[in-house]
Amino acid sequence: MSRKLYIETYGCQMNVADSEVVISILKDEGFNVTGSMDDADLILVNTCSVRDNAEQRVWGRLDLFKQQKQKKPGTLIGIIGCMAERLKEQLLEADKMVDIVVGPDAYRDLPRLIGEAYEGHKAVNVLLSREETYADISPLRLDRNGVSSFVSIMRGCNNMCTYCVVPYVRGAERSRDPETIIKEIMDLIDKGFREVTLLGQNVDSYSWDTKGQKTGFAELLEMTGRVNPLLRVRFSTSHPKDMSDDVLEVMARYNNICKHIHLPAQSGSSRILKLMNRKYDREWYMNRIRAIRKILPGCSLSTDMISGFCTETEKDHQDSLSLMEWAEYDFAYMFKYNERPDTKAARKYPDDVPGEVKTKRLNEIIALQNKLSLKSKKKDIGKVYEVLVEGFSKKSTNDLSGRTSQNKVVVFPAGKHQPGDYVKIRITDCTSATLIGKPA
Ligand code: SAH
Ligand code: SF4
Ligand code: F3S
Repeated sequence: MSRKLYIETYGCQMNVADSEVVISILKDEGFNVTGSMDDADLILVNTCSVRDNAEQRVWGRLDLFKQQKQKKPGTLIGIIGCMAERLKEQLLEADKMVDIVVGPDAYRDLPRLIGEAYEGHKAVNVLLSREETYADISPLRLDRNGVSSFVSIMRGCNNMCTYCVVPYVRGAERSRDPETIIKEIMDLIDKGFREVTLLGQNVDSYSWDTKGQKTGFAELLEMTGRVNPLLRVRFSTSHPKDMSDDVLEVMARYNNICKHIHLPAQSGSSRILKLMNRKYDREWYMNRIRAIRKILPGCSLSTDMISGFCTETEKDHQDSLSLMEWAEYDFAYMFKYNERPDTKAARKYPDDVPGEVKTKRLNEIIALQNKLSLKSKKKDIGKVYEVLVEGFSKKSTNDLSGRTSQNKVVVFPAGKHQPGDYVKIRITDCTSATLIGKPA
């Protein structure tokens, strides 16, 4: 008998990739994905704990799922992912409507847990693992655009940045067997995909040993770049402390390895970076950017920034702004510091920057980045870029939308082109978010 699964995914790209693993595991149990909650026999929400507002959103959704369960008794509700890992059984106590709680390393146990829940028992598995990489599971792709896909190359994180909950909810870092990564990529190509993004919290520390032969990230990247010249390869996230020139040199050698690096600085102040336990200082970070500019001219750069971390002064904040101005980021994700329970910062440092100061600094960071993003796009006007088409533009079916190697979105008249095509586009104009062009 076919049962219906409705799944919502919050948080980072890892969670998107994990939901595809979950769908694959449940497909073997006779579950098919539905886009409508009304049809669902099982509702899963894959959650994020990185900031409190991510968790608040999930609580909001849970209220809705509960109403659904009242309308259609027998519907099971499961919370999976990082928030499940952080709150464990507390989630069952907080909410009697929740049937299943599963952490990110326990998805193979879902069939058993669902069976328990059908028998009326609450089912929990939040064990973290040192080995689990779901290496042999072929993820069932959520139908986004059929062109680009995520491929998880490692799990967990060993870095212990003092503000961050990820190491606690995702466990220790472990890498996935490169053979299974390549196999998954070849399979994606067969299905028509043209772009993969290799995912890990710190891809530069990827490491796999077979018979004394070590594969590091530079080697893995080269292996993936070689699979097919028509397949674009991206990766995320690079850690400034570990990003090596070897990786930059591999990027330089392969046209199909995209010229974009997400290199989160978090702060421009060496004193704050030390308190964050990022293990680099401002000078080191700037030297990594100098290396990128030298080895990969024209490579785009993005960052994550946090405003108002513990003890941050106005001078520290100015250091963040000046770093951004110097780096000329093409794009940034920007956040107010949010204290997370049980992290080192929560235990040891005072969350002493007042809320309104965090907000004011964040607004300054955002305003500066808006200026930099526009500047970065204006520089592209007049140039020709190879664009991989992803689909129709959001506004009109007369226009297509795709990305440059530098990860900038380009909109242009559709003509005869289709998703998956590479098209040379001359950039004629831009908005703050999008490049506008026409076939060259
Ligand atoms: N592994 C990646 C980031 C994962 S979390 C890296 O090291 O860059 C994504 C981003 O969320 C982080 O880069 C950071 O900027 C932000 N973040 C993490 N914890 C946070 C917190 N407690 N408050 C505010 N932002 C946070
Ligand atoms: Fe969190 Fe730091 Fe690990 Fe990134 S590297 S996931 S910020 S602990
Ligand atoms: Fe959130 Fe978990 Fe990703 S906490 S950012 S979904 S690893």
